[in-house]
Amino acid sequence: MYGEFFLEFIRDRRTMGAVAPSSSSLAEKMVRDTIQRGDSVVVEYGPGPGAFTREILKKIDRNTTFLAIEKNPKMAAMFKQIFPSVLLYEDSAENIPRILGEVGESKVDCIISGLPWASFDSGYQERLLQVTLSVLREGGTFATFSYLHSLLLPAGRSFKKKITDHFSRVKRSGTVWSNLPPAFVYRCTK
Ligand SMILES: C[S@@+](CC[C@H](N)C(=O)[O-])C[C@H]1O[C@@H](n2cnc3c(N)ncnc32)[C@H](O)[C@@H]1O
Repeated sequence: MYGEFFLEFIRDRRTMGAVAPSSSSLAEKMVRDTIQRGDSVVVEYGPGPGAFTREILKKIDRNTTFLAIEKNPKMAAMFKQIFPSVLLYEDSAENIPRILGEVGESKVDCIISGLPWASFDSGYQERLLQVTLSVLREGGTFATFSYLHSLLLPAGRSFKKKITDHFSRVKRSGTVWSNLPPAFVYRCTK
């Protein structure tokens, strides 16, 4: 799994944005206080081979509508093998309104994002955030991670400013030093 992930990173750096899947410690931090009891629609962006998915499945209950959206065909194929029972759309997160419509929903309680925001240009960050805000219910949660070094990059700083401007509350977790590379979580409330 690690070899294939790294090869995809070499092939398409911008979309993959990472040399290795997230660690279980980061996955736990992403999900633990993010999904709330009673959340009925949960969406994961960019699951890759499913480090966060594993934690999400521990938190949701039988009545939760859970779907994942993965753009990279190799990652989507790997995901389907590992999680055959999870509803996966091989598509871009930008298309979440249409995808939700296909499952008979229009609003989401919680979005867990594995997207490499610091690899995206400012225009694409803004488009994805706007579409995310348009489907998130009032008071809903959007959680995403950032590599520590991204705070030094213009795209990482631009993303931080955008979420601070667009969400009513943004909380940053402590750093997970054991992740490769070290990373932290932004938990944002609409
Ligand atoms: C940094 S990897 C994270 C993978 C996994 N969530 C993890 O933390 O190990 C980013 C993932 O986002 C996917 N991705 C990038 N842009 C996307 C988009 N617009 N829509 C859906 N998935 C996307 C990539 O294909 C890749 O699988």
